[in-house]
Amino acid sequence: VHPLDLHHIGHAVSDLDAAVDLYERMFGAVCDDRATLAEQGVHVAALLVGASRLELMAPTEPDTPVGRFLAKRGPGMHHVAYEVGDIREALAEADAAGAQLIDPEPRSGLHGLQVAFIHPESVAGVLVELVETRGGSDGGWS
Ligand code: CO
Repeated sequence: VHPLDLHHIGHAVSDLDAAVDLYERMFGAVCDDRATLAEQGVHVAALLVGASRLELMAPTEPDTPVGRFLAKRGPGMHHVAYEVGDIREALAEADAAGAQLIDPEPRSGLHGLQVAFIHPESVAGVLVELVETRGGSDGGWS
């Protein structure tokens, strides 16, 4: 198994503008990009906090995965994302190691990056996202 680097932390919020403002004022974050991923039902802000990345997500509608997450648990930590060079290879390795794949096939995430999620039940309670960065990230989001 290849050791994986952390790519970003996902934080679910109800008010995206307020959360971006909070991270800018409190932690010196810089908003790198904002987008709406309609098929995932989220408005997303990609932040850089020093050399680290943070993804703030607010639901487009209550009846979406992040909308249901907020209704059940309130705002908070949502997922941890790891950076991989080849997402299909990483999914096969995770599968072989016992991961319960939510996405057996990668899908398009922020910036068109290929992503796939692993069920929290198979990772001791934490939702995990794999992000394919195609041989090395430049420190930014894309
Ligand atoms: Co993410």
